[in-house]
Amino acid sequence: MYKKQILITGGAGFIGSHVVRLFVNKYPDYHIINLDALTYAGNLNNLKDVESKSNYTFVKGDICDFDLIRSIFEKYKEIDTVIHLAAESHVDRSIKDPFLFAKTNILGTLNLLEAAKNLWNNNLKNKLFYHISTDEVYGSLSDEGFFTETTAYDPHSPYSASKASSDHFVRSFYDTYKLPVVISNCSNNYGSYQFPEKLIPLFINNICSNKELPVYGKGENVRDWLYVEDHARAIEVILHKGKIGETYNIGGFNEWKNIDLIKVLIKTVDKFLGREEGASEKLITYVKDRAGHDYRYAIDASKLKEELGWQPLLQFEEGIEKTVKWYLNNDEWVSNVVNGDYKKYYQEMYEDK
Ligand code: NAD
Ligand code: TYD
Repeated sequence: MYKKQILITGGAGFIGSHVVRLFVNKYPDYHIINLDALTYAGNLNNLKDVESKSNYTFVKGDICDFDLIRSIFEKYKEIDTVIHLAAESHVDRSIKDPFLFAKTNILGTLNLLEAAKNLWNNNLKNKLFYHISTDEVYGSLSDEGFFTETTAYDPHSPYSASKASSDHFVRSFYDTYKLPVVISNCSNNYGSYQFPEKLIPLFINNICSNKELPVYGKGENVRDWLYVEDHARAIEVILHKGKIGETYNIGGFNEWKNIDLIKVLIKTVDKFLGREEGASEKLITYVKDRAGHDYRYAIDASKLKEELGWQPLLQFEEGIEKTVKWYLNNDEWVSNVVNGDYKKYYQEMYEDK
């Protein structure tokens, strides 16, 4: 008899895999059911260290398929908590294919909300639908100010518009059906197992293989970076102590101009590879700016700190060193992800069963 049965969606992705790992290892009395469609961004190799644990179950499934979602909720009737991370997550891809983002991020979320509502209909006690969102819903800041939980939504990319819409649906289920929900909006994450299309892993790999580093615009955009394990801990705290119906902003108190961050990456990778300091700066290549590129994101995470006692543990320099080391030591993971070999691994592991 488990104390909690948590459905985690998108658990084979970057952040999701860290969240699954934390809960499976730290809470043997919780059953963790990881529901993931294994898109290009989902990778079961991210979870090899927990896949044989008795409190962990993997289910392959698409959140856009309502019948499937309903059948999963029927099979695992004891699910009392949903941590919803599954999403299309890359802004550049959303510019190319906005429909996919609307489908997965909006309709997929609506399917989960509806299925949870149906399952919990008569008993909402000790239930929680926890929706994981992004600071990008708030739009773009100038050099001053921070996003707080009351900042008006002003998304600019199809990605952030789809996440904003999903946040609104989550809140509407709280207001309309009293579904117990909580939302957190987090800043940019970095760390191990991030798909090498996002800035930090892409640039680490390109520096290693002496490829150009495509800096959008002038490289002056600002992001607030948080180590992924600190995000997973924030999710743990909010799940246990967050107030129903509330939103919590999660951030690193750690703003970097892209070009300055890129120079730190170059310095760190060059140091580990024994190259002369700054040798790879020649790889910096300024390219056409991203369409609708938000200038600055910066989170005020003081509500989470003051009300629930969370704050980031890892200093940025240490986090970057750990991340660079991880990518240098896991080049096989990188080439498998890029080559799609992990899909073969999945087929061998699950499809024949
Ligand atoms: P990711 O792209 O690495 O992983 C997404 C996961 O969702 C993958 O495992 C993928 O297979 C799965 N998925 C995609 N479509 C699916 C579908 N239709 N059905 C089931 N599974 C599906 O994303 P990430 O960076 O780990 O982000 C996870 C969540 O956190 C997202 O909701 C994202 O919006 C949010 N977020 C991300 C960041 C960040 O910096 N990466 C910051 C704040 C919030
Ligand atoms: P990214 O990792 O895509 O996260 P997001 O767009 O969600 O913030 O990008 C981080 C920043 O880096 C963003 O300002 C865009 C910029 N960027 C580049 O300059 N070049 C690149 O190749 C990528 C992927 C991002």
